Amino acid sequence: MKALLCKQFGAPETLVLQEVEPAVLNDREVRVAIHAAGLNFADILMTAGQYQVKPPLPFSPGMEMAGVVTEVGPGVTRVRKGDRVMSTCIHGGFAEERCISEDMVFPLPDEISFVTAAAFPITYGTVFHALTDRAALKSGEWLLVHAASSGVGLNAVELGKMMGAKVIACSSTDEKLQIIKGYGADELVNYTHESIRERVLAITDGRGADVIFDPVGGDVFDESLRCIAWEGRLLVVGFAAGRIQQIPANRVLLKECQIVGVNTSQFIKHKLEEYRDRFAMMLRWTAEGKLRPLISATYPLDQVARAMATVKARSATGKIVITTRSQGAEQ
Ligand SMILES: NC(=O)c1ccc[n+]([C@@H]2O[C@H](COP(=O)([O-])OP(=O)(O)OC[C@H]3O[C@@H](n4cnc5c(N)ncnc54)[C@H](OP(=O)(O)O)[C@@H]3O)[C@@H](O)[C@H]2O)c1
Repeated sequence: MKALLCKQFGAPETLVLQEVEPAVLNDREVRVAIHAAGLNFADILMTAGQYQVKPPLPFSPGMEMAGVVTEVGPGVTRVRKGDRVMSTCIHGGFAEERCISEDMVFPLPDEISFVTAAAFPITYGTVFHALTDRAALKSGEWLLVHAASSGVGLNAVELGKMMGAKVIACSSTDEKLQIIKGYGADELVNYTHESIRERVLAITDGRGADVIFDPVGGDVFDESLRCIAWEGRLLVVGFAAGRIQQIPANRVLLKECQIVGVNTSQFIKHKLEEYRDRFAMMLRWTAEGKLRPLISATYPLDQVARAMATVKARSATGKIVITTRSQGAEQ
């Protein structure tokens, strides 16, 4: 089978597509013929050796995938051969197949295509966890979302609106802001040439944002702390800007606010069944048209470096999906 391999940590161009031996299937594992795999910002960090997870070399990147179960281990009870599934696999998605624990595959309704499903677990799973468990977002609160056209950002706008929040969306270009507007954001801020602090304070009549969803970090985080409401919750989701910020504790004291970490891997580790149940619910919402995952582009397996370059250049919106077969990914 073909797999994209990271043989040494480095730039996307160093990834190699090659034929590899199929993995041995363990007792409680299933073998999935992968049809599509979602690309995440973290794939770039992982293959560069800059992510918190460093799989032993060589490994295939690809944190999430969707496909068909082709074989099950003798100890498997909840999945059958022929099932359509999606998975949070953390790595190994950019390949033609992957063996994985049956606990980490989630059933896929027939109405959801592999391409849509492949773009689903990491971002929707993270955002649901962030806004509910970590921020306890309430209806009527002001939710400020940074990088609001990104994979996680657009889901935060969508789920935030579903939860009844008033959403202020920030992004770097007017084109991206137009896409975000289509997902129901109430207020738009172009943070390339507008001050986040001034706009948020003006929009909220000086109150500030109750919940801030921050996958960017660096300067954006620093400004966020200057426009957070009393008792606000600032979600530390990621550091796309490249600088891991320091937290001035005096501001936390002054605002009586909380800086709250978001780490989906921890949630999966401690509350796997809840994580699974949420997908059943969110996939149903998708089938009903209540959620509208945005897949802005698909690339074949031999073009992952090009796809990663788009993300690095900050020009991707929503999600990019890698298709691993020449046909059939939409089935
Ligand atoms: N904590 C968790 O469990 C978890 C889970 C998923 C993702 N994340 C993190 O969330 C962040 C976003 O992930 P994603 O996959 O949604 O990303 P993405 O779709 O690739 O979007 C990243 C966005 O960040 C913004 N950005 C700001 N400065 C940037 C820079 N120097 N280079 C590139 N982008 C920059 C851009 O939006 P603008 O141009 O509008 O600023 C860009 O669209 C990443 O840091 C990722 O690791 C964390």
